Amino acid sequence: MAKASASFVCQNCGAAFNRWQGKCEACGEWNTLVEEAGDNAVPVSIRAKRRGRTFKLESLAGKSNDAPRLPSGMAELDRVTGGGFVRGSVLLVGGDPGIGKSTLLTQATSLMAKAGHRTVYISGEEAIAQVRLRAERLGLASAPVELAAETSVEDIIATLSEGTTPKLIVIDSIQTMWTDTVESAPGTVTQVRASAQALIRFAKKTGAAIILVGHVTKDGQIAGPRVVEHMVDAVLSFEGEGSQQFRILRSVKNRFGPTDEIGVFEMTGLGLREVTNPSELFLSERDLGSPGTAVFAGIEGTRPVLVELQALVAPTTLGTPRRAVVGWDSARLSMVLAVLEAHCGVKLSGYDVYFNVAGGLRINEPAADLAAAAALVSSLANAPLPTDAVYFGEISLSGAVRPVAQTTARLKEAAKLGFARAVLPESARGETPSEAGLLLQSVGGLSSLVADIAARGTKRTDRDPERQGNSAPAQRAASNATPARFRQGSG
Ligand code: TYD
Ligand code: MG
Repeated sequence: MAKASASFVCQNCGAAFNRWQGKCEACGEWNTLVEEAGDNAVPVSIRAKRRGRTFKLESLAGKSNDAPRLPSGMAELDRVTGGGFVRGSVLLVGGDPGIGKSTLLTQATSLMAKAGHRTVYISGEEAIAQVRLRAERLGLASAPVELAAETSVEDIIATLSEGTTPKLIVIDSIQTMWTDTVESAPGTVTQVRASAQALIRFAKKTGAAIILVGHVTKDGQIAGPRVVEHMVDAVLSFEGEGSQQFRILRSVKNRFGPTDEIGVFEMTGLGLREVTNPSELFLSERDLGSPGTAVFAGIEGTRPVLVELQALVAPTTLGTPRRAVVGWDSARLSMVLAVLEAHCGVKLSGYDVYFNVAGGLRINEPAADLAAAAALVSSLANAPLPTDAVYFGEISLSGAVRPVAQTTARLKEAAKLGFARAVLPESARGETPSEAGLLLQSVGGLSSLVADIAARGTKRTDRDPERQGNSAPAQRAASNATPARFRQGSG
């Protein structure tokens, strides 16, 4: 007799076990196993009886309809999707609550509806009135988008199967959807997976493009349904510091376009505004010539992005000095501070350190280490860095500056934006850095960079008696780490 298949499913990775255990053996997470009714409830004895249907095999070179794309009318969104939504494709858009997923998709559906395409927006989280309110705020209330507040996948599919097939359907969010075919509660892995499967089948059958909105857990994964990530054609993630105005749409997976591409938006009172040249924007309000800022030549996806790193190092009044970071990993900052202290003679224990990435960009690249260190030392020594220089390079615990990838792309972007020099690691892995018009200053170790900056600071503070107190550590740093060639200038 077929036994009702109940199983314990990990809500993090979707692995199924036939008994409960504290730790998921597949992904190592604790307390993620939840009992769910199995989703393949058809007994094996019945399934096995169906005979296979024969089908015609096609050649690889056969006539292929070029994936017809439907541009959304938002260039930054289209850049990330690879030129528009592909017919019959399913996209997953993930992001923290309140980041602007519903806003982005309301704007995209409205623009497409205005262009004459049938678009449907299904909200499982908000009432119709709330969705309307947002549209009004965005000035898009007149767009002929069809709205519904529904959560039953069967009802949604039945409704959408009538009339002309919509070109674009937004499901906000997949975690609120449920289907009759499985018994688990909405939001569980089994429900999310079954609902997504039903919607994906609908998309492939009718040719409608579907966007699924997915919540993100605190560690940055699209909650539960990592399984859904494998089922959909593209995964986009919408990121940004909630308190700042910039938002980054990142493509994590894309079957029909580039991955790792980013689109940059600015959240304004009237919704999301597209930012076509992020580097120019992140650098637009630079405080030229003030100490504590360094321009980092980073890579976001496939696009080089220049961004200003800001540091403020100030004497502390507290027993334990403060270390506050926005837009960067605080563990990474501690590491850079430790290396500065251990290998470069920069004593920071008596100072509060505040660190910020301008514009709300979040940097994950280790290549930002060198720029961060430059900004920190510049603030401590009260020595403005050259305004025409960009910095990049990874710092190792020994104080050496390690090479990073994509040197050429970083240098190109810097040259394009009018920078004249780059401070970079000595040898780039498999790359010979060259960029016309850019003076390359390679550093092998952090201490030489520190000495260089500190030497500039001492000169400046000599002329500025009020800052004399601050220059003491700079002088100490300079004399500790300065090779003979720099001592002359600072002495
Ligand atoms: P929302 O799209 O509801 O986020 P999500 O669907 O990702 O949870 O966006 C919510 C935030 O965006 C909210 O904090 C208010 C802000 N916002 C603006 O600043 N301007 C606007 O025009 C809109 C519609 C929202
Ligand atoms: Mg929302």
